[in-house]
Amino acid sequence: NPRNAVTLVEVGPRDGLQNEKSGVIPTQVKAELITRLANAGVQIIEAGSFVSPKWVPQMAGTDNVLTSLPTLPPHTRLPVLVPNQKGLDSVLSLLETHPHLASSLEVSVFTAATDAFTKANLNCTIAESLRKIEPVVRSATDNGLRTRGYVSVVVACPYTGNVEFKAVREVSQKLVDMGCYEVSLGDTVGMGTPYQVGEMLEEVKKSVPVEKLAGHFHDTYGTAIANVLTALDHGIRTIDASVAGLGGCPYSPGATGNVSTEDVLYALQNSPYYVMGTKDGGIDLSLLVDVGSWISNLLGRQVASRAGKALQAR
Ligand code: HMG
Ligand code: MG
Repeated sequence: NPRNAVTLVEVGPRDGLQNEKSGVIPTQVKAELITRLANAGVQIIEAGSFVSPKWVPQMAGTDNVLTSLPTLPPHTRLPVLVPNQKGLDSVLSLLETHPHLASSLEVSVFTAATDAFTKANLNCTIAESLRKIEPVVRSATDNGLRTRGYVSVVVACPYTGNVEFKAVREVSQKLVDMGCYEVSLGDTVGMGTPYQVGEMLEEVKKSVPVEKLAGHFHDTYGTAIANVLTALDHGIRTIDASVAGLGGCPYSPGATGNVSTEDVLYALQNSPYYVMGTKDGGIDLSLLVDVGSWISNLLGRQVASRAGKALQAR
């Protein structure tokens, strides 16, 4: 990829919906959201989670979502969150009954930079989570599934406050050493400022090549788009975003959704950067705005994307 090509990872169907409180979102709605995003040109769409339904009820039935998808544009990639061996076993048995999914499914494992957050999110310490993740990454890789890693609370933690950037660097390096092709750095709480994000990235880059890093910014304090641009300035070329700015983590109280996909696409128009997608010209912003309005309407929410709202009104 040329150095100005930006990869967008759409996390709306997972991060965006996992904490939705408006009621159980039907499988068909989840599948339609993924389909509409893919048809707007989004190539990488995080499709759901194989986590405990007791912990995150809204992600129950991700297997049904995946099996009810129509044929998506070629090269569409569908990562799913997997916390442990049980989650991976479910993914592997799904592939046995639905081998056509093998070309698109990927696995995302996740841990964090503080023990307190890892306890709340995964019921174990960072060290224990890494011990659980390692065989999962190995077995996923042996089964031909690419594996991405997430590190949460890279700037601030809802339980400890400040975070040691050295801890972010060490955990990121361990995920890469295990075989994750990329590590997504999550400002889970959405409190990070551009200056802090820059400082954090410089620390992580001491151990992990920037080509293997992605930025995952929640927008609680309104700094997410500024943090995206800061990440690009620091060499990051993969950005996680959520259509209509949906989302929040159930174990980060008060955190709002991710930076919106519409805002990222809008901010990078007429810039040296090019956001890749499966359509001519990458991702179709106006189709994406329609997807954002559609899903927000269905959930009974306002579109949280500023560019989405403005473009919708025109
Ligand atoms: P635990 O309670 O210690 O697990 O939770 P356990 O092994 O004792 O099992 C408890 C029950 O869960 C058992 O069922 C298991 O079978 C079941 P029971 O016997 O009671 O009926 N179970 C599972 N069911 C389905 N799939 C599985 C699975 N594993 C166990 N994979 C556990 C440990 C990891 C399971 C739990 O803590 C969990 O599922 N956590 C997931 C939390 C989560 O999904 N959080 C949101 C995603 S992370 C995020 O949003 C941050 C991110 O966006 C980046 C950022 O913003 O920073 C990625
Ligand atoms: Mg998140």
